[in-house]
Amino acid sequence: MKIILAVILLICINNTFAFRLNQHSSLNKGLKYRGVDIKEELESLKFDRLFTDSSSSSTPQSQWFTQQLDHFDPLNDNTFQQQFLVNDTYWDQNGPIFILLGGEGPIAPSYVQGHFILNTYAEKFNALIVAVEHRGYGQSVVGDLDINSGLKYITVEQALADYATFRQYIVEKYSAYNNKWVSFGGSYSGSLSAWFRLKYPQLIDAAIATSAPVQAQLDFSEYFEVVSRSLGPECSAMFKNITNTVTEMIQQGQNQQVEELFQACDPIESELDFATFMESLSGGPSEIVQYNNDNKATFTNITTMCTQIGQSSNPLEAFAEWNQQFNIYSGSNCTTSSYQSFIQSMQETDPLGDNAAAIAWTWQTCIEFGYYQDGESPNQPFSSAITLDYFVQQCTDIFGPSNFTYQPAINWINTEYGARNLQTSNIVMANGFVDPWSSLGIINSTDPSIQTILIPTGAHCSDLYAPLPTDSAALQQARSMAVNLISQIVSQ
Ligand SMILES: *[C@@H]1O[C@H](CO)[C@@H](O)[C@H](O)[C@H]1NC(C)=O
Ligand SMILES: *[C@@H]1O[C@H](CO)[C@@H](O)[C@H](O)[C@H]1NC(C)=O
Ligand SMILES: *[C@@H]1O[C@H](CO)[C@@H](O)[C@H](O)[C@H]1NC(C)=O
Ligand SMILES: *[C@@H]1O[C@H](CO)[C@@H](O)[C@H](O)[C@H]1NC(C)=O
Ligand SMILES: *[C@@H]1O[C@H](CO)[C@@H](O)[C@H](O)[C@H]1NC(C)=O
Ligand SMILES: *[C@@H]1O[C@H](CO)[C@@H](O)[C@H](O)[C@H]1NC(C)=O
Repeated sequence: MKIILAVILLICINNTFAFRLNQHSSLNKGLKYRGVDIKEELESLKFDRLFTDSSSSSTPQSQWFTQQLDHFDPLNDNTFQQQFLVNDTYWDQNGPIFILLGGEGPIAPSYVQGHFILNTYAEKFNALIVAVEHRGYGQSVVGDLDINSGLKYITVEQALADYATFRQYIVEKYSAYNNKWVSFGGSYSGSLSAWFRLKYPQLIDAAIATSAPVQAQLDFSEYFEVVSRSLGPECSAMFKNITNTVTEMIQQGQNQQVEELFQACDPIESELDFATFMESLSGGPSEIVQYNNDNKATFTNITTMCTQIGQSSNPLEAFAEWNQQFNIYSGSNCTTSSYQSFIQSMQETDPLGDNAAAIAWTWQTCIEFGYYQDGESPNQPFSSAITLDYFVQQCTDIFGPSNFTYQPAINWINTEYGARNLQTSNIVMANGFVDPWSSLGIINSTDPSIQTILIPTGAHCSDLYAPLPTDSAALQQARSMAVNLISQIVSQ
């Protein structure tokens, strides 16, 4: 059978159409930004249905901007078509322009239709809402996903240069010569929002940078440590026991029992298969933690998951059953367990293929960010077979050539943008303490022009979604900080 991965990304922003997430998170590397998060996908299906029912006037049409393929090679005048969406319902010509920056996935109509907080703020400030897709994702195709064609153009510097030139285009298109600009983003696109303001302060007046992992890092073993902290000691110990039990069974040659119990997609035949399988088992619980009780419908939350598995008389079997439900919820019927099948699914070069966003994001982790969510720390419940090398090797195995070792440009990224020593102003950076990505963000700025807030019960990107009556006080405060900053900018 065909295996499709699990994805990767960090996406908080929902990913609609393009992603058929098959194998769930198992191989989410990226910001485990876990690829498209699944609940968002279901959510967007609902959105799509709404569209079909509603009048066409309220459906934003895809628009296209002819963008420079390579901003830094004067001899290359090739272009590509960059997708964007606009909602001008609230705009009064004088109001600010809110730009939602695309991250590691396709943009969708819901981006400008109230799925995110932008519409709430736009109504208040009579703002124009623009969402622009990241090059190399969705329909903003820069070539085949191959090292000799499109991949080399998918970098953060190129993406920021796109956003800068696109911003100038919108100014002309809307004759908006004196309007204020506020950028928004969450997860990777949260970092982009911060860096857009940092690198192009003459173009962007303020930035809302949600759950932004501004610190690039090869070995992101803190990810599972925070998952452990968020699960709590008891639930984390339970998962550790499950990990150890499965590992012992494999060591004793009981592969077949393990494969049957967890409905493995393929036999576990090598160390790399075992790492792949164990990473798959870490995927469900990690994803539940990352998106715990955020403002969107979810498969389950930490409390329910831990209770359901922990109170069973046989937690191993209960977890296996839970994991299979999670697989099905994620669009698969089995647990990814073959390294080769995974690698093959990541070698598809069609930029509009099912795995395109996962592949493009994996590429960016291989060349720029690392962010490898490995099991190298002893203080976490998942398998130590999920090594840093396992991730590093994937880059070569997926993209080749076979004699090349990828070394993400971590030092360069952190030098160019400053990592946690971000030198900018007019920015609000919120993080959720429950969210593992918060450990790569800025949470304790003492600079009054870089406002940070750590939301104690917050998950990945929770402040970027439309508000709910159940929002915590800290979440409401994060939104007030954003509103106050925008008020300040607009009144200048
Ligand atoms: C703009 O957003 C509002 C909700 O804030 C929505 O009702 C409307 O359909 C949107 N319009 C377009 C063109 O997306
Ligand atoms: C898992 O927990 C059970 C029940 O406490 C215990 O008997 C067993 O030894 C543990 N297994 C491992 C591998 O830690
Ligand atoms: C977890 O989800 C359950 C069921 O939806 C809900 O009753 C409970 O309040 C949630 N737990 C927390 C801590 O929010
Ligand atoms: C999953 O479905 C495929 C066909 O869609 C089938 O070949 C395979 O046996 C199924 N795997 C499991 C574990 O049920
Ligand atoms: C690596 O492999 C390529 C062909 O894929 C070859 O052209 C190159 O010379 C090799 N480099 C080294 C250092 O072996
Ligand atoms: C701020 O947080 C970072 C880690 O995110 C830590 O290294 C640093 O010591 C903290 N600084 C203060 C003043 O708390």
